[in-house]
Amino acid sequence: MKKDFVSILDISRDELGELIATSRRLKEERRVGVFPPHLSQKTLGMIFEKSSTRTRISFEVGMYELGGHALFLNPKDMQLGRGEAIRDTARVMSRFVSAIMIRANSHQSVTELAVHADIPVINGLSDCEHPCQILADIMTIVEHLHRIEKVTVAWVGDGNNVCNSLILSTILTGMEVRIACPPQYKPSLEYIEQARSEGAIIELGEDPIAAVQNADVVMTDTWVSMGHEEETKEREKIFAPYQVNMDLLSHAKPGAIVMHCLPAHRGSEITDEVIDSSRSVVWDQAENRLHVQKALLLRLLA
Ligand code: CP
Ligand code: NVA
Repeated sequence: MKKDFVSILDISRDELGELIATSRRLKEERRVGVFPPHLSQKTLGMIFEKSSTRTRISFEVGMYELGGHALFLNPKDMQLGRGEAIRDTARVMSRFVSAIMIRANSHQSVTELAVHADIPVINGLSDCEHPCQILADIMTIVEHLHRIEKVTVAWVGDGNNVCNSLILSTILTGMEVRIACPPQYKPSLEYIEQARSEGAIIELGEDPIAAVQNADVVMTDTWVSMGHEEETKEREKIFAPYQVNMDLLSHAKPGAIVMHCLPAHRGSEITDEVIDSSRSVVWDQAENRLHVQKALLLRLLA
């Protein structure tokens, strides 16, 4: 049976532990210049319906470092962009490559690809979830705080795809999540219910100060996710009280770390002062995309 990684819940709690351990080993091996070619002769097809810096580079470099190869595929250059069905694309790609990574406008495209492909499909971001990001976030929290269970994460801003994956991840990690967002920009209530029904502690409110009170981690993301650019003006106004600045950070635990999946919009959801401070772990967080995705590729392909 092929395995996919469409949602963060496509792995179990034990598998997550193994993945993080493998990621840390791979990071150390890379530091000392050791690159065992575990994926030689394997190829990853990467379909990007939206822009990317981190996801594209980390998957491409990751495959190279594992001895394999990655193909960047722009749907506009593929027959997919001229109406070839996803299911046909899935079947054809299954004959050529070893796995597919897709960044899609609609989550439905990711699930459809996974259903019809005979090879693993990885979600590189959809409108619903960003599971690879949350893997890197978990690794980063473990590195900096040396624990994950009962870590309190305050999510401040838009209840978006990254927030949704964070919510679901509490089922695997035991992290506690406090969300502060404007009422019309809540994350998936279905995911919150699902997490709560598994015993997770998720608080949902509108007050950023209440959310960060005593938090171990303060996390945010853009107010304008890809695909919502035409709402920028309106969103900038509505989200203004949700900026992560030094004043807000002063309400978190004294040693709290600040996380952002990037790209950041400095002066909007986060200030220069915060992102460039010693509290910010965003560069480690970005780097860890490489290590966790290499571990994920090994799990799916080796
Ligand atoms: N965090 C993240 O996924 O970044 P990119 O959009 O640059 O891939
Ligand atoms: N929420 C953002 C994440 C970018 C990595 C978006 O979907 O655009």
